Amino acid sequence: MSSESASQDESDVLRVLQSRSETRAFYNKIANVYDLLAERSEQPMRESGLRVLAVAPGERVLEIGFGTGHCLVELAKAAGPTGKIFGIDLSENMVTLAEKLLQRESLAEQVELHCGDAIELPYATGSMDAIFMSFTLELFDTPEIPSVLDSCRRVLRPGGRIVAVGLSKEGRQGLILHALEWTHQHFPNLLDCRPIYVHRMLESSGFEVLDWKVEYMWVPVEIVLARKID
Ligand SMILES: C[S@@+](CC[C@H](N)C(=O)[O-])C[C@H]1O[C@@H](n2cnc3c(N)ncnc32)[C@H](O)[C@@H]1O
Repeated sequence: MSSESASQDESDVLRVLQSRSETRAFYNKIANVYDLLAERSEQPMRESGLRVLAVAPGERVLEIGFGTGHCLVELAKAAGPTGKIFGIDLSENMVTLAEKLLQRESLAEQVELHCGDAIELPYATGSMDAIFMSFTLELFDTPEIPSVLDSCRRVLRPGGRIVAVGLSKEGRQGLILHALEWTHQHFPNLLDCRPIYVHRMLESSGFEVLDWKVEYMWVPVEIVLARKID
């Protein structure tokens, strides 16, 4: 994508007005009911993303914004005992819930969790085979997204893969999506997410997009597979 079309795309993406501490407080508050609110609609989208990422035994995979931890379980099963999964999430309560889930699944030893801000990933350069994130990239403010993706590129090994699943401005833009954007604009503390151009943002951050598609829950969701160019 040319830089002209990149900036044109950014201009119709809403800004995120919440501070980090407001985001953390929001997810701490809703952690216990998150699955009740979101699982039914988001779960099929996440599953689609995990299929595209196709983690192999022995891989080292990072999940950014893992929430209650369902994908950590799937990633740990796919990477197996010779692999290692890493997770970072801003919310202490989400970390606690994910830890409990991993213990129940007897997978805690394969997964290392970190409570922190993904804008600065605390992992070594080139240390990950793959990165997964679902419904998280669209929580960052527009100017922050390239920084998060730069951080992802740094921690991926050459040729490493990334899958991002997120609310999208591609595809059919129906009434519900406009209502979501209106609510995000007027009540940012009620609705922190907004649709973005997921695959275009990965492309303009220097990733090679290998595959992308739009699936629909109540709004369009992009599922994007990209790789770090060697
Ligand atoms: C909408 S939830 C999605 C959770 C999970 N990925 C899923 O699909 O069910 C977003 C998650 O990202 C986390 N998050 C938000 N901002 C973050 C940041 N700056 N750094 C790391 N995690 C963040 C939230 O705490 C929350 O757990």
